[in-house]
Amino acid sequence: MPGLVTILVGNNPASVSYVTGKQNTAHELNFYSLQDNQPEDITEQKLLEIINTYNKDPKIHGILVQLPLPRHIDEKKILNAIDPDKDVDGFHPINVGRLMIGGKEAKYLPCTPAGIQQLIVRSGVPVEGAEVVVVGRSNIVGKPIANILLQKAPGANATVTIAHTATKDLAGHCRRADILIVAAGVPGLVKPEWIKPGACVIDVGVNRVGEKISEKTGKKIAILRGDVDFDAAKEIAGFITPVPGGVGPMTITMLMANTVKAAKSAAGIE
Ligand code: GUN
Repeated sequence: MPGLVTILVGNNPASVSYVTGKQNTAHELNFYSLQDNQPEDITEQKLLEIINTYNKDPKIHGILVQLPLPRHIDEKKILNAIDPDKDVDGFHPINVGRLMIGGKEAKYLPCTPAGIQQLIVRSGVPVEGAEVVVVGRSNIVGKPIANILLQKAPGANATVTIAHTATKDLAGHCRRADILIVAAGVPGLVKPEWIKPGACVIDVGVNRVGEKISEKTGKKIAILRGDVDFDAAKEIAGFITPVPGGVGPMTITMLMANTVKAAKSAAGIE
């Protein structure tokens, strides 16, 4: 039985919502799943000890520490402490290096970029030789998706540009893109006139722009907006992902796939 632990430090509302989504899916799939909530003021040492306990636990195949962590904790130290064979997020430097090298070396691809690649490929969008422009250079999305689509492999082999906050003429770069992946965290950054007609637009932005009362539950929920002006952009793009409901569910799906892979690997099946 695949085993997954998700560790949440503090109670950042976005992180609580992401971790709950991951746990609900793991339960639906009948995984052995644990939600480990730790207080905001946990020491780095204590968090390292907790990770070490899960590293040794044979029922746990995947360990996920939800990011961001509080400022007093060194994120690099924490990610380094996770056993690379249980690193279903693909954030350990060994797994980052394996992805960079490519081929069978890459054991766990980070979940959001892996999900983006599946969305593009399974929608029938040609990737080989395509002009891909990634807006954003984070370790969670921008850098890994650029690396994935750059590999000489099926569903990849693209010409990739990474644009960021210092990029001159961002609009000009975006207009060249056959596949435009936006992970900047700036609501409505990409204007409809920046999109090449027929392009595939992947919006990774999840920006909380306010609150509303849910019609279903009567509870307060966040109003989410992407990095792309969806209503206008959908008239120009050939393919486009909504926010919410586009990339987010794929992140969870790929986490489950990585956990199954980890469990099989631990059982010597693959
Ligand atoms: N914070 C935002 N995205 C992610 C993710 O994919 N994994 C983890 N661990 N933290 C995140």
